[in-house]
Amino acid sequence: MKVVLASDHGGANLRSEIASLLEEMQVEYTDSGCHCEGSVDYPDYAIPAAERVAQGEFDYGIIVCGTGIGMSITANKVKGVRCALVHDVFSAKATRQHNNANMLAMGERVIGPGLAREIVTVFLSSDYEAGRHATRVDKIEAYEKKKK
Ligand code: RB5
Repeated sequence: MKVVLASDHGGANLRSEIASLLEEMQVEYTDSGCHCEGSVDYPDYAIPAAERVAQGEFDYGIIVCGTGIGMSITANKVKGVRCALVHDVFSAKATRQHNNANMLAMGERVIGPGLAREIVTVFLSSDYEAGRHATRVDKIEAYEKKKK
């Protein structure tokens, strides 16, 4: 399993926490920043990470900003990305099982590091159930294909 991490300045501390967790879990990951002192623009980090997931270079992306909202809105503009903004453990599991989410967004100003660690652990260890959910995910993909 390969994971790409990205954040803006508002999510940099939580991104580092997740990097530590992935090391403990022995999950291969790339930290694509931001390695920034000042303020940056979240699309500059969400788009490259989302594209790398969409292109198959990484199995999953984990992205963080202050709220998680800007990063998730942006990532979901990339064809093939299903990014879930998650701040609870139930949703972390459900979005893998039902939506086959390939990206996880969180807000550093919303949750603490302990809960974020649990969310990441559950997200990465839950499998897509397909079945009736596949019909729905297929409809998202069909829409993406016909959209210009
Ligand atoms: C940055 O101040 C903040 O707007 C950003 O991290 C994020 O929360 C945007 O959605």
